[in-house]
Amino acid sequence: SDIEKGTYPHYMLKEIDEQPLVIRKIVEEYRNENGVLSIDEEILAAMNEADRIYIIAAGTSYHAGLVGKQFIEKMAKIAVEVHISSEFGYNTPLLSERPLFVFISQSGETADSRAVLVKVKELGYKALTITNVPGSTLSREADYTLLLHAGPEIAVASTKAYTAQLAVLAILAEVTAVSRGFKPEMDLSKELGIIANAMEVLCDEKDEFESIAREFLTVTRNCFFIGRGIDFYVGLEGALKLKEISYIQAEGFAGGELKHGTIALIEEGTPVIALATQESVNLSIRGNVKEVVARGAYPCIISMKGLDMNGDSFVLPEVHELLTPLISVVPLQLISYYAALHRGCDVDKPRNLAKSVTVE
Ligand code: G6P
Repeated sequence: SDIEKGTYPHYMLKEIDEQPLVIRKIVEEYRNENGVLSIDEEILAAMNEADRIYIIAAGTSYHAGLVGKQFIEKMAKIAVEVHISSEFGYNTPLLSERPLFVFISQSGETADSRAVLVKVKELGYKALTITNVPGSTLSREADYTLLLHAGPEIAVASTKAYTAQLAVLAILAEVTAVSRGFKPEMDLSKELGIIANAMEVLCDEKDEFESIAREFLTVTRNCFFIGRGIDFYVGLEGALKLKEISYIQAEGFAGGELKHGTIALIEEGTPVIALATQESVNLSIRGNVKEVVARGAYPCIISMKGLDMNGDSFVLPEVHELLTPLISVVPLQLISYYAALHRGCDVDKPRNLAKSVTVE
């Protein structure tokens, strides 16, 4: 069945491998009888009535929300704010006149997110939950639900739910854009097909990522992830994956912020993983890599085909530039997996962490 490991040593590895299938499944689930990507009319109406969207989430789902903001703003041209659910109660933003709340939660049970949902429902606002679990608390208590169709995710470190969240957010953004009369940014079902194929290629390159993990991460005590634009957000997720399961202190940050602090931490041999998937910032992120290398860092550059340069550690297959997070995260998941494995960590059940956190 779905929730058996089969021949896999860990659920996490199985779930990483399932990502191409999940993306194809999502495209299938969101296609209408004419083969066109579609979203429930009620949800589209709520998106179109909103003057601002507030995404609320925790952990990996928060990182998906950051990318989702880019999708929705670029494609559907609606302003989006992304908030960490546990902070919302204290650092409450000044709300717009017609807010729509979008909760992103793999489990649909995160207590911090639910607390925000209860509050916004009391205020009379509409809420949409994007979740992997039909009938979960956040799904039942929101006005609308979009499902991830990722199948059960067992490993504590979230992998396939993250890429599923990105795919569903892209579909929501694109379908909303079309309903608002904008010319579609891309042929999204075709591009998601390309993404699924690229993911498959990456899953077939496990040896590469295992050797990157061995080379950079077996003895280190820390590791930095840098990127600019959308790559910055994927770096945050890469750092979270690595710290969750390998216990290596990891930080993701924006390339331009290096000089404002983090560069002080670079020593001889400090691993720095850089993402270079965006043409407009390719040269500046490579400039940042030079800055850290000059201070002794060991760089690992993951670039996209077409933007690659001599000495890059891995070149990703080419996909639509806005959708790169769906594939650039896969090497980071695999590198974290192998780092944890070689450090003897309990990959699927890291210490001190729970799959769903049902206390505030
Ligand atoms: C826990 C899990 C994380 C997850 C976060 C949010 O901390 O360990 O993997 O990202 O909760 O969970 P949710 O189910 O709301 O997406």
